Amino acid sequence: MATQISQDRTSERQALTAEQEELLEAGSLADTDIQARPHAFYTAMRRGDPIHYDARLGSWLVTRHEDISAVQSDPVTFSVQHGYSEQQARGMRDEFEAYLREHGGGYFPDAIMSDPPYHTRIRKLMEQAFTAHRVKELEPRITEVVRGVIADVVERGDGKCDAVKDIAIPLTIRVIVEQLGLDQGMEDEISRWSVAVTAQIGAMQSRETMLQNAALIAQLQQYLIAKMKACEENPTEDMISDLVHAEVTNADGSKEKLTFAEAVSLVRATLIAGNDTTATAIGNLFYVLTTRPGMAELLDSVVDDERQLNRFIEEHLRSEPPVRALSRMTTREVTVNGTAIPAHAHMLLVYGSGNDDESVFPEPRKFDITRQNLGRHVAFGGGPHRCVGLALARMEVKVAAREIARQMKNMALAIPESEIRYTPTVATRTIESLPITFEKREG
Ligand code: HEM
Repeated sequence: MATQISQDRTSERQALTAEQEELLEAGSLADTDIQARPHAFYTAMRRGDPIHYDARLGSWLVTRHEDISAVQSDPVTFSVQHGYSEQQARGMRDEFEAYLREHGGGYFPDAIMSDPPYHTRIRKLMEQAFTAHRVKELEPRITEVVRGVIADVVERGDGKCDAVKDIAIPLTIRVIVEQLGLDQGMEDEISRWSVAVTAQIGAMQSRETMLQNAALIAQLQQYLIAKMKACEENPTEDMISDLVHAEVTNADGSKEKLTFAEAVSLVRATLIAGNDTTATAIGNLFYVLTTRPGMAELLDSVVDDERQLNRFIEEHLRSEPPVRALSRMTTREVTVNGTAIPAHAHMLLVYGSGNDDESVFPEPRKFDITRQNLGRHVAFGGGPHRCVGLALARMEVKVAAREIARQMKNMALAIPESEIRYTPTVATRTIESLPITFEKREG
């Protein structure tokens, strides 16, 4: 008998239009057109088949807010570790591991991509680097960095730029350098390293590209190990140092620390997890500011009011969530909202759809900063794996929004909207390039 998770709402499934029926029948989240414009597919799934088996992906898509929340809250039945480690360097894991042991100072399994009880211990220690105090302390310096990146583009004086390539991506990488206490001038390397690490779960590598990526990851690890060894001896005011020195006291008074291998994996995870996601959030911000009527004016009206600006950012993350869907693997047979799922099945929690669930967010495509329940969105996931970097991410996107509004005006898309290209992936909804025009806003 399979365990029942989430309420069985089979009786509430709604009749679909012929078009929606066809979309469910023929559509797939692996389809790049659906990845670019997913909302109709999400709606069809939520209404007619909320736990939908996507045969092309070989994954069960969980699309309703309530079911996503139920699955997230049970990290033992729905394992992150299995979902992740079975994806890593798919089919070439031994060779990948051996390469890093030989050239990269060791093989460091991703400690945060784990299940309880191990995850609970790692998570507690990792949170030491993301305290409200550390995030608050970083804000002035991050504001300076963001201001500088935008000013460099504005001061070029030609009134045009690629908002993703010239602003969102460099800005995020420079913030990471600041936050982790890495060396200035490392931006290009970090960008390459980041792509190499992300490729390990993309399941698209040939042996040749796997080895090229392994070489880059080896460099990254050698660099981080040297930094961390230096921090061990001389603590610094940054997140690498926080992780190297993280310590928690258990109820019985005993102390816990990270092993060096765990700390290396967490610094690596911090560098990667916050990179694409935050750049995507800022790229999406430019997208809505240049394509949705009234959005730029709305941002202007809230920019000097911290509380309203926070609500604007939260509604932005709800309506344009950077992370679309992330993996879980069932560890036993289970029934979710009336649908039986076998053991060892791959699932995707479709956060993008949960944020559009009309039973939680009426008129979900409307941008409304007065929603009572803004904070219920699942852009940062939920349960024990909820984004550990969310305070930092919110702050960074807020600071970016403020600086954009203060330095730029009359922004417009420089290409037809239909020509916007998205990165082909199920995991995020990321604009690859966004040419825009704008005018400089004088002080
Ligand atoms: C707007 C930007 C961001 C978004 C939308 C985002 C989204 C998410 C989501 C949806 C998860 C849940 C993963 C799951 O369900 O399996 C997550 C986890 C995580 N995020 Fe973020 N994130 C952002 C920024 C950041 C930043 C800035 C950092 C760190 C510097 C970070 C570090 C992490 C880590 C380490 C985890 C894993 C936590 C765990 O498994 O316990 N994220 N993030």
